[in-house]
Amino acid sequence: MKRLAILLSGRGSNFRAIYEAISNGDISNAEIALVISDKKEAKGLIFAKEKGLDARFVNPKDFESREEFDKYIVDLLRGKEIDLVCLAGFMRVITPYFVSAYRNRIINIHPSLLPSFPGLNAQKQALEYGVKITGCTVHFVDEKVDHGPIIIQAAVPVLENDTVETLSDRILKEEHRIYPQAINLIVNDKVEIVGRRVIVKEN
Ligand code: GRF
Repeated sequence: MKRLAILLSGRGSNFRAIYEAISNGDISNAEIALVISDKKEAKGLIFAKEKGLDARFVNPKDFESREEFDKYIVDLLRGKEIDLVCLAGFMRVITPYFVSAYRNRIINIHPSLLPSFPGLNAQKQALEYGVKITGCTVHFVDEKVDHGPIIIQAAVPVLENDTVETLSDRILKEEHRIYPQAINLIVNDKVEIVGRRVIVKEN
């Protein structure tokens, strides 16, 4: 069994999708061993507690720097023997210390087809740019924001009458599909990183 940690800051719908995928067997060979939120009132944190998971609020204000915060998180992860860290709407840029402590074992989901539209408000960026197709990306995390090797992407059309909300909803459905899929591949040792490319190994 691989041990997952989920890091989130808000709604937690991707976390719920991962939780459900483990419950119904779409993700095999993994369990959620720890949930961490940097926001006390995060819905995702409340859901984790309701489900009886080890769920912790870590207050950034208790730390002098981003690195101190990340050192505390890494200690928590090591204490729980975490194999894979899943960022799921975690609204903090993680430090190089954290990245190197868990090199190639941190993944993230981003609501655009990277490398287009990194950073905040990716759906709004796509709409304003006028692209006809956008989507979402699950990728390994490296030192640059929304930059590491890409594991899975899904394309989503932009419709004529889309608003940021309708487009975000359509992308979110795909996020909930590909994030569990990517986790299932990783925990079952089906992915290999070769340079910037992620190769999915056949059986
Ligand atoms: C998602 O759109 C995800 O792609 C982005 O943050 C949002 C988190 O939503 N990184 P949720 O908390 O998983 O519902």
